[in-house]
Amino acid sequence: MSTAIEVSHLRKEFRLKTAIKDISFSVEAGTVFSLLGVNGAGKTTTIRILTGLSRPTAGDAVILGHSISRELDLVKKISNLSPQETSVASNLTVRENLEFIAGIYGMNKAKTEENTNRMIALFSLEEVEKSKAKILSGGWQRKLSIAMALITEPKILYLDEPTLGLDVLARKELWNIIEKIKEQVTIVLTTHYMEEAERLSDRIAVMVSGEIQAVGTPEELKAQTGTDTLEDAFIKIAERGNVVCGH
Ligand SMILES: Nc1ncnc2c1ncn2[C@@H]1O[C@H](COP(=O)(O)OP(=O)(O)O)[C@@H](O)[C@H]1O
Ligand SMILES: [Mg+2]
Repeated sequence: MSTAIEVSHLRKEFRLKTAIKDISFSVEAGTVFSLLGVNGAGKTTTIRILTGLSRPTAGDAVILGHSISRELDLVKKISNLSPQETSVASNLTVRENLEFIAGIYGMNKAKTEENTNRMIALFSLEEVEKSKAKILSGGWQRKLSIAMALITEPKILYLDEPTLGLDVLARKELWNIIEKIKEQVTIVLTTHYMEEAERLSDRIAVMVSGEIQAVGTPEELKAQTGTDTLEDAFIKIAERGNVVCGH
């Protein structure tokens, strides 16, 4: 196995708030790594820094050999993000949204067609491909958003709360899709759903108040905390974090 992402001592300060404090972790190529934490833990901030949408106050990350501080253009070429707030063009159809992104990435007509068709098949978007994105349900929009990230053939795919607000069936469907695409791409996802983290992740980092309090496989996190479920492990780890943070 080789290392896809090596994060060292990242820190992000906003004017009134330190969102992440000295976090370090690494992700093996071809695995799913989850940042698990409650709202405000610093998950989105971390992903925004790794994808170059936000600059760190300190620290660095190396993505497939390229530093986010020195080679951000290269990092952006090999990474893509499906953001927490789904960002599809509401007046374009599903197919047009996909073609639009392929065009931005400089794909020619044949490649655009090929990749668009592949995404429509992979995400089972056939029945909505001619529908405008604005009339789609949350689950369909989210699938489209992930397809729009994957169509660019990233080596690293970031999924920020991919199933937030979805019903149980849409969530299960997305889990199946994520399990399918993990064969092609290294995935970093964020979630506050324990079940989701456990089902999808090879390794999990538990974030509490901008810090990583524990990292390991779901089994290791349970063993470390002497618990039987990831939820109990999370609660123990989070309480430990809050004691350290002085809450
Ligand atoms: N642009 C910003 N300006 C100021 N504070 C921010 C900004 N973005 C995030 N924060 C703060 O940083 C902390 C971490 O936020 P975020 O990374 O969005 O957490 P999560 O994704 O885990 O819910 C929160 O307290 C949030 O309010
Ligand atoms: Mg977030």
